[in-house]
Amino acid sequence: MLKKRDILIDTDPGVDDAIALMLAVRSNFFNIQAITTVAGNTSIENTTRNARYVLDLLDANHIPIYSGSTEPLIGKLHTAEFVHGTYGLGSLQPKNEIQLTHDAVDQMIRIIKAHPHPITVVTLGPLTNLAKAIQQDASILGNIEEVVIMGGAIEEAGNMTRAAEFNIYVDPEAAAIVLKADVRKTLVTLDACNHVELPLSHFDEIKDANLRENAKKMVEDYIKNTLELESESGAKAYDPLTIYYLINPAACTVKEYDVLVETKGEHTRGMTIADRRKVPDKNNVIRVVMHIEADLFKQDLMKYLNQEEIK
Ligand code: BDR
Ligand code: CA
Repeated sequence: MLKKRDILIDTDPGVDDAIALMLAVRSNFFNIQAITTVAGNTSIENTTRNARYVLDLLDANHIPIYSGSTEPLIGKLHTAEFVHGTYGLGSLQPKNEIQLTHDAVDQMIRIIKAHPHPITVVTLGPLTNLAKAIQQDASILGNIEEVVIMGGAIEEAGNMTRAAEFNIYVDPEAAAIVLKADVRKTLVTLDACNHVELPLSHFDEIKDANLRENAKKMVEDYIKNTLELESESGAKAYDPLTIYYLINPAACTVKEYDVLVETKGEHTRGMTIADRRKVPDKNNVIRVVMHIEADLFKQDLMKYLNQEEIK
């Protein structure tokens, strides 16, 4: 029997975050200790309600949800409803109650410190909550096995600005704190995600009718919006790919770079700058996922959502 990995997921659902939660829960690979929410793709009210909505769909209400930061460390929040829809889940309008607890940072610290062995922290949104947790109590780093971050772009262009990927752009100061933290860090970048697209028809393969219909309602508008913005014709799977890295690291190409976050540049704020020189700095070496096998991911995603055995 496979030993499940203990994880904590920090997220801003968001359509692809929602699919990532489906994959994390249905794959049975993880003991999800908690979900913490952050403002990013949309407001904290929406991201927290959406997280609950998705867990309801998955019959996974035993997983606690703690709401966190309403805005980045500095400046005002930039959201992405133009991609994820008015409420953050495409054309869905979740009506479940919004239950804000405002304690994600404290709960993160509590859970990490109380855990009997080092735990993995996965971030699928801006890094505000984790940065605050590190600022409040850096000793948590000693009980973290790995921080896996969806964010950044190394050779690819940005997706929020020409230089910056969305999660890093929304809170570059927080990203800089996390990327400098003394802990094993893995960045799942746009380089690893941009070539992977899920056409709407792919979701027809989900056997659970309720999950299928909900997933399609989320993804349909998300695809339309990315088509207008980026001329892409399938759903981008940034956050599910980040979960997939943990499930199947063998499908991923990982390089090591010293990475800095630009926090000041007029045109480059939020850019992740890897030292790709022949003789690079090695002060802050981070593991960077540069490629993930698209066909394998697509196949496995559906198998896991359908809880089929993977050979
Ligand atoms: C990231 O930005 C968000 O819009 C997505 O949910 C993902 O986490 C991709 O740049
Ligand atoms: Ca996200």
